[in-house]
Amino acid sequence: MFETKSGVVGIAGLFFFVFAFIVMGALPWTIYKDQPELTALQLAEKGIPHEFVDLAERFPQQFREYYGEPTTEAFAEAITLGRDVFVGEACWHCHSQFVRPVSREDIRWGPIAHAREYNNELQRPVLFGTRRVGPDLSREAGRKSNDWHIAHFYKPTNVVPSSVMPSYPWLFDEHRVPNKKGMAIIAYVQWLGSWLDVYPDYEKPAKSAPGSTDEPTSVAEQGHDTEENA
Ligand code: HEC
Repeated sequence: MFETKSGVVGIAGLFFFVFAFIVMGALPWTIYKDQPELTALQLAEKGIPHEFVDLAERFPQQFREYYGEPTTEAFAEAITLGRDVFVGEACWHCHSQFVRPVSREDIRWGPIAHAREYNNELQRPVLFGTRRVGPDLSREAGRKSNDWHIAHFYKPTNVVPSSVMPSYPWLFDEHRVPNKKGMAIIAYVQWLGSWLDVYPDYEKPAKSAPGSTDEPTSVAEQGHDTEENA
């Protein structure tokens, strides 16, 4: 077997296949198997991005009709529907949700993705994506304002003249106000990456705790994931 070249290559190929399976499959599984998969509500309990409250203030009548008050439960419902829109409209066809530890991607998008970020029900199916016609979206939170997203989803060339992203007019009502799905996808993209402690592109580095009238404090004080407590 070791006398021929193809024998050596065959054995080496088999070895690397088994090695890759252990390192990339079995090992992470043993490390993470006891970590509970978070529900949308548990994710929402970590804090509501102020952009969701902004939607409620800006379109009070429509927001109340679709989601009631901007509570934790309403936010969980919105990001779950937003995930469904992301899957249904095939946004994943052009956008990844994974900052890779190569090519200095962290300089463009922010912290490199960590396995624990995907251990929740909104990542079923996992939305890593395989193509990047558009930018990675896993650190999109707060990068742009709600206004920008509204103009962009209605017709991307409104704000980015060279954009090849399709228009999504069916995410709006007849008055060009985002409908239930429109608000959901905005809530969803404004949530992506908001769980990180350090994020350079936040419009405002704070979140409103549900029901609180206090001025928002720093993100770290509001119980976000850190390396230690995640
Ligand atoms: C045909 C490919 C394509 C599809 C499908 C697509 N996009 Fe895009 N998207 C792009 C491109 C290209 C850009 C960069 C130019 C621009 O901003 O329009 C972009 C930009 C974006 C941005 C702005 C990112 C930033 O920070 O600059 C967001 C948010 C976004 N897309 C969300 C979505 C969502 C949500 C969907 C599904 C409803 C979607 N896209 C579908 C190609 C696509």
